[in-house]
Amino acid sequence: MPDHHYLFTAPAEVRGLELPLIAGALPEGLRGTLLRNGPGVQHAGRTPVHFLDGYGTVASACFDGGRVVYHARHVDLPLARREQAAGRLLGRRPFTNRPGGRLANLGRMQLSTGAAHEVYAWGGAVVASDADGHHCLDAQTLATTGPAPLNALGGGLTQVSAMPRFDPHSGHLVAYAMTPGVLGSDSVTFVEFDAQWRERARVKRSLGVKGALLHDTVATENHYVVVQLGLLDVPRFALGGMVPLDTVGLPPGASRVLAVPRRGEGPVRVMPLPDGWQSFHVANAYEQDGRLVADTTTYRGLLDFDWLNPPGLGRGHRAAVGPQAEVGPFLSRHVLDLGSGAHQVTVHHHAGGEAPCIREDRTGRRHRWVYVSAQGSRGDEPVENAYYWYHAVAKLDADSGRTDSLWDAGPRVYVTAPQFVPRGEAEDDGWLLAWTHDAAQGCGELVVLDATQLARGPVARLALPAPLPAASHVGWMAY
Ligand SMILES: [Fe+2]
Repeated sequence: MPDHHYLFTAPAEVRGLELPLIAGALPEGLRGTLLRNGPGVQHAGRTPVHFLDGYGTVASACFDGGRVVYHARHVDLPLARREQAAGRLLGRRPFTNRPGGRLANLGRMQLSTGAAHEVYAWGGAVVASDADGHHCLDAQTLATTGPAPLNALGGGLTQVSAMPRFDPHSGHLVAYAMTPGVLGSDSVTFVEFDAQWRERARVKRSLGVKGALLHDTVATENHYVVVQLGLLDVPRFALGGMVPLDTVGLPPGASRVLAVPRRGEGPVRVMPLPDGWQSFHVANAYEQDGRLVADTTTYRGLLDFDWLNPPGLGRGHRAAVGPQAEVGPFLSRHVLDLGSGAHQVTVHHHAGGEAPCIREDRTGRRHRWVYVSAQGSRGDEPVENAYYWYHAVAKLDADSGRTDSLWDAGPRVYVTAPQFVPRGEAEDDGWLLAWTHDAAQGCGELVVLDATQLARGPVARLALPAPLPAASHVGWMAY
């Protein structure tokens, strides 16, 4: 089996197992729980689905008292229960159509997911999320306890943010809902929740376009910043002949970063990417001296997700849609003059990576360091720009636009995006935690790296009892 096919193997559930330390020493003072979410079971009944449409599997590693206790649980989704009972895929997915061809998908604009994208801690729970819903899990056992209150924002054709973000300015969780326009343009509604899931703020604005696909978001002192990754071809999407994400295009201005005022009636600021470029994630954004600065991950061309279909299920539709992303991901820096509205974007060709992470208390504030999943050594994976198949962790200097340091696990070891956990006061004084998969050994590990000496490699390695496929995103639950 090719190494990169590890992605398509469903992980085993594990409940409360202490992980053996196989190298190094657990750092003193490292307390909290590392989380990951990613596709697990990749069949809906007998229907194989695209990797990104698999049902979510959440894993946790609790560091406490010199021990690390591990859980891995499949999210108990009502959708999964219905589909497994029916023996086939019922809900059209972003990357997988319902079986039965065009007619089985005609007019089906409401998409379902396996809640396999993001994982975060809020309101005393661990939450697994994607754009059609968030699901609460018990913070210790990861048993699914029910829908998250955030889901009240969605329903119908309205999608919620797959990736809400903690805002240190307000102490709130910032999320959005995106509602397609029927006659007019699409709109976005930003909502802030307190730690008891009570709504504390709400702002609704027009997006001025149809078919907007929003993804990552972050709040600065005065703005909600959100990344629009492209535009759906709505008629093509509705006709049902193509999987929805294959109808995404990049006409000029389709991928952009938006800054929506948190208070008052100021204009929605638009920060377009260069024509033909695409962004997905925002590492961070902040305001300083009358300017808004936002660092996003970018690609030249349209990212091709067809490679993440299970073997034999690729569609090859992309050629009919537009150019493929062959270059990236790079960190790019947007600088917006909040007075004049003038905008500049710089693509840092020497700072590459995806699924960015910063020190969390710098969110919405001035930052310098960004930690990413980076390609490093090339294994047998078919493409360079799918971060699910990356082999390294990199520390990027967002001010200079260069890669500061990198840990490369080698061509047969896959590494998830890193999670930064603070140790001291300096911005980069902390640990980086990541999950790995060694294809040669067929096993998984959890590694602890020192963010100030990343290239030295792990200071601790722990063995997982069973392999984990690649994660979409990771998270941290502090005590
Ligand atoms: Fe994401």
